[in-house]
Amino acid sequence: MTQMTEVRDKSSPGPNISINKNNIVEMMSAWPPQSFTVSHHSDQAFTGGGLRKFATYRDLGIISATNGMVRAHVMRFIPPFRAEEVSRRHYHEVAFQLLYCLKGWIKYEFEGQGEIVMHVGSCWLEPPKIKHTVLDYSDDCELLEVVLPADFKTITLE
Ligand SMILES: [Fe+2]
Repeated sequence: MTQMTEVRDKSSPGPNISINKNNIVEMMSAWPPQSFTVSHHSDQAFTGGGLRKFATYRDLGIISATNGMVRAHVMRFIPPFRAEEVSRRHYHEVAFQLLYCLKGWIKYEFEGQGEIVMHVGSCWLEPPKIKHTVLDYSDDCELLEVVLPADFKTITLE
């Protein structure tokens, strides 16, 4: 049986998109080729200059392995938390954004969800354009983030 799923971004006037989940592998053939990659842990791999000024990033090599389709990195937040720098309401123009807490904790406010503290082992999906604010994080906070596409815009609202 064919299963169709309607995906619609209600904030945009574009047409509805129907996806046949049974053909997802075929659909993926429209993506650029992917190559095998592995990234082992290295403290030296964390660098600044990423999206967030208050974090360092360890790129996991997925951007080049997917020809720019997917970004995956470990974020290490720089202590101490400073609300005046970090707590700016914003959203990301993405197709997919998944996060997983590896160390410490981080507190957010998400539009329609309220305040949530993510702990080690917490995994969350930030649907495209969900408005959110980082309210606090522990000195040792580390998150894994996976985003499509690899390059995306962040819109700051205040
Ligand atoms: Fe964000």
